[in-house]
Amino acid sequence: MRFDIISIFPEFFAGFFEYGIVRRAQAQGLVTVQVHDLRAFAHDRHRTVDDRPFGGGEGMVLKPGPLAEALESLGVSPKTTQTESAAEVPAATGSAVPSPAVILLSAQGQPFSQATARELSLHERIVLICGRYEGVDERINRLYCHMELSIGDYVLSGGELAAAVVVDAVMRLLPGVLGNEASSEFESFGIPDAEITSDVDGVPRSQHGSGGLLDYPHYTRPAEFGGMSAPEVLLQGDHREIRRWRREQQLRKTLLNRPDLLERTSLSAEDEKLLASLGWQRKR
Ligand code: 6GU
Repeated sequence: MRFDIISIFPEFFAGFFEYGIVRRAQAQGLVTVQVHDLRAFAHDRHRTVDDRPFGGGEGMVLKPGPLAEALESLGVSPKTTQTESAAEVPAATGSAVPSPAVILLSAQGQPFSQATARELSLHERIVLICGRYEGVDERINRLYCHMELSIGDYVLSGGELAAAVVVDAVMRLLPGVLGNEASSEFESFGIPDAEITSDVDGVPRSQHGSGGLLDYPHYTRPAEFGGMSAPEVLLQGDHREIRRWRREQQLRKTLLNRPDLLERTSLSAEDEKLLASLGWQRKR
């Protein structure tokens, strides 16, 4: 898989992809990340990439010319059909030279999620355009972009951090990137189980998929730290009891930090009973 990032701050990414899993994936040749300086595609003396907005208002807008040239230099052509806003990402076909998914990072984008990351991980190539200043000329979005993504409901000074987030989240889903193929499925937001497989008594048989809940808390040695003991059940080695405890912790953590997730996940009767005892009821 190949990522191309277009930015006016290419140096921002130095070091970003040189750690841990992301570094290893590149060393193994599973992924390449190339960062491109937008200013290299400006031709005036001052290498101007931005201009004042038509109609007035605050700040500056990234000009379409340099961005279009940067995209064309990567072999990206305008989409054939221009829709009202950004269209769907082209289906990843697995063919030899699929056209890349072109993504604009902006605070006005659709929310980036684990589902988006999974979808993007099917592409051979992804081009990420980092928005800056007050925005990017909308014609770039309309002509070239398949998706406009935001990483959350807050304002960043540019799309660079968001691009790094997308690269990290997508890359770790690629086959062979994680040491343990299963581990990405065990985390918070892992592939939700269509149904929760549980023993007759309602104890989940496996943590596979996490069912769209947050992950359970983790402990390691020492057993005693800061005046607190690691939970006894984890030290005992009864794996059925451990699974039960972890599921309960997932439910408690999700109720505390992300109650919205409980509305969208599949819950067993046992789960619902525990949540009810904690005062939770499904929204109508
Ligand atoms: Cl992708 N860009 C900017 N500028 N702000 C953001 C964002 C992106 N996602 C959340 N906030």
